[in-house]
Amino acid sequence: MAVDIQRAHDLAARIPSDFVLGFATSSWQIEGSSQSRGRSIWDDFSETPGKVLDGATADPACDHLNHIPDDLDLIKDLGAKAYRFSFSWPRVIHDGIGSVSAAGLDVYDRLVDGVLERGLAPYATLYHWDLPSALQEKGGWLNPDSDKWFADYAHLVAEHFGDRIDTFATLNEPWVSAFLGYAAGIHAPGEKNAAASLEVFYRLMVASGHGIQALRAAGAKNPGLVLNLTTIIAEDNEVAEQAQLIDGLQNRMFLDLLAGRGLPDDVVEGTSSITDWAFVTPQGLDMAAEPLEWLGINYYTPTRVASTGEDAGKIVGQGDSVYPGIAGVSFVPKNPRTAMGWEIHAESLTTTLVATAERLPGVPLYVTENGAAFDDVVTPEGIHDLPRVDYYDSHIHAALDARDQGADLRGYFAWSLFDNLEWAEGWTKRFGVVRVDADTQKRTPKDSALFLREVYSSVP
Ligand code: FCB
Repeated sequence: MAVDIQRAHDLAARIPSDFVLGFATSSWQIEGSSQSRGRSIWDDFSETPGKVLDGATADPACDHLNHIPDDLDLIKDLGAKAYRFSFSWPRVIHDGIGSVSAAGLDVYDRLVDGVLERGLAPYATLYHWDLPSALQEKGGWLNPDSDKWFADYAHLVAEHFGDRIDTFATLNEPWVSAFLGYAAGIHAPGEKNAAASLEVFYRLMVASGHGIQALRAAGAKNPGLVLNLTTIIAEDNEVAEQAQLIDGLQNRMFLDLLAGRGLPDDVVEGTSSITDWAFVTPQGLDMAAEPLEWLGINYYTPTRVASTGEDAGKIVGQGDSVYPGIAGVSFVPKNPRTAMGWEIHAESLTTTLVATAERLPGVPLYVTENGAAFDDVVTPEGIHDLPRVDYYDSHIHAALDARDQGADLRGYFAWSLFDNLEWAEGWTKRFGVVRVDADTQKRTPKDSALFLREVYSSVP
């Protein structure tokens, strides 16, 4: 038997019956069918030689758009109560602004109706990094009108789908868009400009706030935002100050803007040689502080900082120069690590959730992504991905520990349903609980999927 039933039941026994349990995906990573939509910055980036490790591009990905009913059956069969997916902005509006694609809306009508028919709750993200290329040509997120483009798109989607989707997230992980996209340059659009990255961070948060307003105006009940937050661990006293600034750049500046506290002083000071933040306006800060109904947290690994170490200056799997203003520190993940090189440290999920609940009180939290890539071994008897089972077991326990400590945690989504296009890593890093063969498109649930099915379907 591939599943340790007792282990699954011990975990399920801790989960409250109204806790939302599901799987997460994103449009560019799974959809395929890129010819029937507008282009996005991830098409441009992935088609540039050398940007994606194995040269993978948007097609076929998981060819999901040609497998919607079967894929939704699979989600249902795995015991999920909810499905977190994202809309592709350039599928809905090819150029990001202007004429709306009826065919694009039809794709998501079929998806959303299929989700509802199976009794699953849709958790829809409006922007998971696939900015329409036509908007990038206008300056992308650096354009001061970008929040209006986004708000118009959000309004349109909520008007069309608001009768069927309660829960929307505006953005997925604006930290990644800003700092991997504009500082480290390892994500689309591939810029290495620290000053621009800080401005993009700010404009994304304004856009999210404007999007929340637009969603509400169109009648959406439950608008929120998804951030990648984590615990920063200083390994020695020499880096205490740097670790504090890293915490500011990773966590506090997002939560402070949301809470209406403006930018943290230490972040403004620590980045003063890079930017004077002259682009920040009182209206923008007000917009960014538009109240959320919920906050999603994507958590994978802590950030462990030391004064010396083997990977001096680099965050494993994320390149260097990720944190503008930070130099002279090393990022030192301990073992065990995943195939991404990310340290496995479930306690940091607990501390991240508890700290977030303290910094942004009164906002319900969800773990909207959590999971791990491993080099899976395929055998005729199945894919026995015990390290991934261990990861899920320990991290779901850790999330429930945060709840026990008072965090208002309402749900958990595993990343990811499928092996998929892992951005700059292409197919080389597999996060799925279901294996996908990119050539045959065959889906094979791994032992981790069977474990989560047992957990999800055993909640009292
Ligand atoms: C997150 C992304 C998601 C996936 C995981 C591994 O940062 O939101 O799309 O790539 O990491």
